[in-house]
Amino acid sequence: MQIAVVGTGYVGLVTGVCLSDIGHHVTCIDIDESKVELMRDGHAPIYEPGLDELMKKNIDQGRLFFTANHREGFSEAEVVYIAVGTPQTENGEADLRFVDQVAKDIGNNMNRNLVVVTKSTVPVGTNERVKQIISKIVKDKYEVEVVSNPEFLREGTAVYDTFHGDRIVIGSDSERALAILEEINRPFGIPIFKTDIRSAEMIKYASNAFLATKISFINEIANLCEKLSANVEDVAMGMGMDDRIGSKFLKAGIGYGGSCFPKDTSALVQIASFVKHDFNLLKSVIEVNNDQRLLLFEKAKERFGDLSGKQIAMLGLAFKPNTDDMREAASITLSRELVNAGAKVVAYDPIAINNAKKILPNEVEYVDSVEEALHGADAAFIVTEWDEVKNTNLDVYIKLMKSPIIFDGRNCFSLDKVEEYPVEYHSIGRPSKY
Ligand code: UDX
Repeated sequence: MQIAVVGTGYVGLVTGVCLSDIGHHVTCIDIDESKVELMRDGHAPIYEPGLDELMKKNIDQGRLFFTANHREGFSEAEVVYIAVGTPQTENGEADLRFVDQVAKDIGNNMNRNLVVVTKSTVPVGTNERVKQIISKIVKDKYEVEVVSNPEFLREGTAVYDTFHGDRIVIGSDSERALAILEEINRPFGIPIFKTDIRSAEMIKYASNAFLATKISFINEIANLCEKLSANVEDVAMGMGMDDRIGSKFLKAGIGYGGSCFPKDTSALVQIASFVKHDFNLLKSVIEVNNDQRLLLFEKAKERFGDLSGKQIAMLGLAFKPNTDDMREAASITLSRELVNAGAKVVAYDPIAINNAKKILPNEVEYVDSVEEALHGADAAFIVTEWDEVKNTNLDVYIKLMKSPIIFDGRNCFSLDKVEEYPVEYHSIGRPSKY
């Protein structure tokens, strides 16, 4: 199958590369010339384990191409995937500017009947809008059929997820288009769920909103556990053993971040409000998450009273491990609050520092190791559960810090382990140890 993918962000690039790997002839289109050059040499502009190798392999085998020229990209295509960003506007809605532009580009450059597939997360009804924009341009000259094919991959495991996902959702009002998409995706060997176009669009938002709800729910339980001297880890374990609940996404912490959950939950609240539905449950999920991001700061303020002049080691900055993505990371809120309170923040992250420098307050100091960050610190904030953070022995904290006071936002240490060391330890949803 001849496929063009427009947009080479996380979703577009991973999709394009993986589709070429299962045998399709794929051209990835991006307006950024310098990015296109980089990708032609087999370098992904994003950090994603396994992606560079897969790119090189498929470029060498003549199945994967990159271009900044739409006409060239569409010239052979039978199917075009839209995978551009849908950022959040100020009032929480999804910004469809880029999707609309691609629809126009398709209309202006297509030279045969096309199936257009939307991978970007878009509000219910957007695929119909894409069809209208294209049809208005091409009139009766060519036929266009649209398919919603939402993406569920996680950053850091995006390639793995594409080959091992739980399901592939495709929604269309055209049986022919559904059959083509089924054919394209069959080699992945993943169950394919076919539905109508609007339900497919909704499945993506509903899935992300549900996962975000699970996280905020367990975080609220964690906050209650602290007040009632229970242990949230055991509570989550006991809950998760019930198949109806499931054990995944019940890890209490300092809230969810990243490019999807915060954006998609806000967008769904907006989508609901347009049809005069007040999605109170989801509003609370978002509110709980906003409060949860501040938790380590609140705990430290309570412990020290005044944070002015205190040196805080911030361990991990990315929104989760194995990514350099800083979007909606708890470290942003925490470092701002600490700096405003007059504290000195000394931060370490294995790969996100370059991105962090663009977002965190200028006052934040960056170092090259966990040890350097801990050196002379009055307290340590564990923000991202990188392996190297989890594997740093508590002895190191005792040896290097001014006082070994730890605020662990990711419950990296078991309470039994902590008992063995003379450290003060505050975590999430578990009793503190002094
Ligand atoms: C998520 C979805 O998992 C994916 O299906 C969707 O397509 C995009 O959004 P991603 O943002 O890459 O993927 O990260 P994920 O691993 O799901 O974690 C999201 C956030 O939730 C992270 O900040 C993580 O720390 C937090 N989280 C996750 C928890 O706090 N507790 C959990 O139990 C799980």
